[in-house]
Amino acid sequence: MARITASVYTSHVPAIGAALDLGKAGDPYWQPVFAGYDTSKQWMRDHRPDVVILVYNDHANAFSLELIPTFAIGCAAEFQPADEGWGPRPVPVVRGHPELAAHVAQSVIEDDFDLTIANRMDVDHGLTVPLSLMCGQPDAWPFAVIPLAVNVVQYPVPSGRRCLALGRAIRKAVASFDDDLKVQVWGTGGMSHQLQGPRAGLINREWDNRFLDRLISDPQGLAQVPHVEYVREAGSEGIELVMWLAARGAMSDHAPAVAHRFYHVPASNTAVGHLILENT
Ligand code: DHB
Ligand code: FE
Repeated sequence: MARITASVYTSHVPAIGAALDLGKAGDPYWQPVFAGYDTSKQWMRDHRPDVVILVYNDHANAFSLELIPTFAIGCAAEFQPADEGWGPRPVPVVRGHPELAAHVAQSVIEDDFDLTIANRMDVDHGLTVPLSLMCGQPDAWPFAVIPLAVNVVQYPVPSGRRCLALGRAIRKAVASFDDDLKVQVWGTGGMSHQLQGPRAGLINREWDNRFLDRLISDPQGLAQVPHVEYVREAGSEGIELVMWLAARGAMSDHAPAVAHRFYHVPASNTAVGHLILENT
């Protein structure tokens, strides 16, 4: 049977991808950011999954205001890096897992989640920057990826509670897949950031670290936090953090082991947060 072994949480700041792609990872500004992921890259080598279900948000690259799926699962065999205005990032094509994706889609939809099925979907920094942070710059990504896009860009967006419940439905779906696969679920985006308006540049270290604490030890309580608190405390783009609850919901009900925790300010206009949780 397939099983979920661990979950990974990380910010997806596009400037991190650009720093890596342009050979600036060793610059004094970026070095502390990438240093926070050295442990993670080693952990990935030691805990190689077969498939990652990667919960992320598209930033008007695959979708636009013409079509806004709340939750979309990528069922294709591969996904191309999106052109975000400066050309696609020079990273490997993302290999999918159509069989597991179709199984998850069926199970989760029968569990009353109205997923959109995407048989073609380009993937932007929301998905490729976490892959780069966790895997570096390989010639090919070392596992298959099932992209699960969540709308956190255009209101109305799903609640943290709904994302946690989606994660639980994904856990059930994976556990009923016959092949013996090691699966990780990743939640991406955040932490506190606001990219526009009078509060642009907002960073809230206390709130972010409390979010990390509660994600580890009180996901059910954290899932009750309303949108307005995310926006007020973590900035308008801090709402991306609801996606971390989807990955957390996919974990077992036992207390997880914390394999790694990292927090750093600044990266562009954003706080970078990162956690690795293992099922015990
Ligand atoms: C930026 C964009 C993002 O999508 C994000 O999550 C953080 C930062 C940016 O444009 O700087
Ligand atoms: Fe983002």
